[in-house]
Amino acid sequence: MTENVSNVSKEHAMNIMNVDYSTKIPNNVNLSEDRQVLKALEGWHPGYMNWWGDMGPEGFQQSLVYLRTAYSVDPRGWAKFDYVKMPDYRWGILLAPQEENRVIPFGEHFGEPAWQEVPGEHRAMLRRLIVIQGDTEPASVEQQRHLGKTAPSLYDLRNLFQVNVEEGRHLWAMVYLLQKYFGRDGREEADDLLRRRSGDADSPRMLGAFNEATPDWLSFFMFTYFTDRDGKMQLHSLAQSGFDPLSRTCRFMLTEEAHHMFVGETGISRVVQRTCEAMKAAGISDPSDVARVRALGVVDLPTIQKKLNLHYTLSLDLFGSEVSTNAANAFNAGIKGRFHETQIKDDHRLQNSTYPVLKLVNGEIKRVDEPALTALNMRLRDDYTQDCIKGLLRWNKIISTAGYDFKLTLPNVAFHRQIGEFKDIHATPDGVLIDDATWNKRKGEWLPSTDDGDFIASLMIPVTGVGEFASWISPPKVGIDNKPGDFEYVKIET
Ligand SMILES: [Fe+2]
Ligand SMILES: [Fe+2]
Repeated sequence: MTENVSNVSKEHAMNIMNVDYSTKIPNNVNLSEDRQVLKALEGWHPGYMNWWGDMGPEGFQQSLVYLRTAYSVDPRGWAKFDYVKMPDYRWGILLAPQEENRVIPFGEHFGEPAWQEVPGEHRAMLRRLIVIQGDTEPASVEQQRHLGKTAPSLYDLRNLFQVNVEEGRHLWAMVYLLQKYFGRDGREEADDLLRRRSGDADSPRMLGAFNEATPDWLSFFMFTYFTDRDGKMQLHSLAQSGFDPLSRTCRFMLTEEAHHMFVGETGISRVVQRTCEAMKAAGISDPSDVARVRALGVVDLPTIQKKLNLHYTLSLDLFGSEVSTNAANAFNAGIKGRFHETQIKDDHRLQNSTYPVLKLVNGEIKRVDEPALTALNMRLRDDYTQDCIKGLLRWNKIISTAGYDFKLTLPNVAFHRQIGEFKDIHATPDGVLIDDATWNKRKGEWLPSTDDGDFIASLMIPVTGVGEFASWISPPKVGIDNKPGDFEYVKIET
C-alpha cells in the first residue's frame, strides 16, 4: 500500500518534469492549456525559423548531426542523443521544477514568498534584464555561423552545432517569459530579438562582446570558455531571482550551459596539448620561439596567451561598471541576486556592508571600500575570475607536464578595458599603467595582431574524415555520449 502511494507520487513528479512533445513547441509548462501564450509562440515560430535559416550555421542544414535534446528537466538524466537535422531540432520551453514554498532569498523582500507573476513596480527592470540576456543567445549563433566550414573534426563540428541549437533554445526560453508575462511590449521585444544582428552597424546586438567577430576555432574555444562563463554567472544571479519563472528558466539553462564551457575548456586543453607534443617531438625547448613552433603547424603558446587576453577582457566588460546603482536596484528589488546567494552567510540585504572595489586613485590602481550594494557587479566579476582560474590551472598542468617553463595567466583587470574604471587608461597585462604611445607601440605583444590572425586562419583547414583531426588540435579523451573515436558525429552527405 505504502509502496503504491510512493509510486504514484513519483510518477506525478516525473510527469511534471517530462516534456510534452504533443504541441508544436515542446514544453513542460502546460502550453496546451495556455492557449494565448501558445498562440503567441506559434506566431513567433516562423520568424525564428527564418532567422535560423539566415543567421544560423552556414551550410550543414541538411546534415544529420548527433545532438542531444532535452526530454526532461531531471538533472540525473535529462537528455537523449540522436541524429537530427538542425532545422528539425525540437526547440522547447523548459523550466526547472517549481520549488515548494520558495522565498525571495535577498533584497528588500527577503523571506517573502517568491513571485509567480511580475511585480508591477519592478516590471520595466525585469523586462530589461530578460531582454539583455535574451539578446546574447542568438548573437553568439550569429558570431559562430561561419565556423562549420573550417571545423578541425566532425567531433568539434558536432559540438559547435550543439552549442548553437542550445543558444537557440535559450532564446526561446527568454521569449517565453516575455510573451507570457509582459503582454504587448513583451511580444514586441520578442520580435526585436530576431531583428538585431551581431556586428550590424544599424542594429547591433546590445552588448559589446556579442558584436565581435569569432573568426576562427581558437576564438570559438576562448568564447565558450570565457564569454559563455559570463553567461553562467549572469544566469546564476538570475536563478536567484524572486520572480520564480525566471529563476526556474535560468536553473535549467545552466545545465545546458555547462556543456558550452566544457567545449571551451577541453578545446583549449587540446590545442595546448597538441602544441606541447609537437614542440617536444621537434626538440624545441623554448616555447617562445614562435617562428619554429608555427612551422610545425600548431599554435604557439604566446599566441594562445594573446587570444586569452582578448576574450577574457571582452568578457570582463560584460559585467558592466564596477560601481552601479542599477545593480543595487536590481538586488534591492529582489530581481537579481549574487552568485550562490543562498549559500552566502550574511543578511542578504547588504544595507550596511562594504565590498573592496579596484579603482583608479591618483593614477594608481587601488582597492577602495564601496557600499556592497553598488559594488555587486564587481563582486560578480571577482567570482567570475575565480571560476576562470580553474581552466588555467588545467592548461598549465599540461604545459608543465610536457616539461615546458611557460604559464598562461589572466591579465590584470585594468588591461584592455572598454567599460568601467579603467576604460580611459592603458595598462600592461601586469597592471602597469602606460601612456597612449607605449600602448600603441606594444599592444601587438599582448593582443592578437593581424599577423597572428592570418597565421591562425592558415591553420583553419576543414577536416571531415571520420575520426580525423586537424594538425593543431589533439583528439578528445572521451567521445560525446561515450562514443568511440571513429564515430561519425555529423553525416555531412545526406
Ligand atoms: Fe545561452
Ligand atoms: Fe552558452
